[in-house]
Amino acid sequence: MEQTFVMVKPDGVSRGLVGAVVSRFENKGLKLAAVKLMTIPQELAERHYGEHREKKFFGELVEFITSGPVFAMVWEGPQAVKNARSIIGATNPAEAVPGSIRGDYALIVDSNIVHGSDSPESAQREIGLFFG
Ligand code: PPS
Repeated sequence: MEQTFVMVKPDGVSRGLVGAVVSRFENKGLKLAAVKLMTIPQELAERHYGEHREKKFFGELVEFITSGPVFAMVWEGPQAVKNARSIIGATNPAEAVPGSIRGDYALIVDSNIVHGSDSPESAQREIGLFFG
């Protein structure tokens, strides 16, 4: 059984979308294995997004993800990483299909509601960072 890490970002929490996000994963059939409401410390944010350190938006990304509480989750089930990415939708909400979370609730890439691990290896690393 595969696990993936999913987090409702500060924009999603402040807009009251935690319940809507959780419902979509439950409706799909994935199982919730762990949850944590937390404000991410700077150091954890920089480690979580470490692979993007050289990108020009890195500073903004870290500032945004530490700006308020996030709702961190572990979901499990068959192909949990791929299924979660499909529920979440494309990174840029303008390209996310209707029916996906970003397609239905977001407009721009720098506030796109939800994060989901991009591979089983990333999922294990991120679950370790947030729940280890
Ligand atoms: S890239 O460039 O393809 O490697 O980036 P990507 O994997 O699509 O995105 C990595 C995370 O950075 C966020 N992102 C941005 N934030 C702010 N501004 C801009 N321009 C921007 N572009 C991408 C994107 O939402 C990803 O965050 P997570 O939390 O993984 O969804």
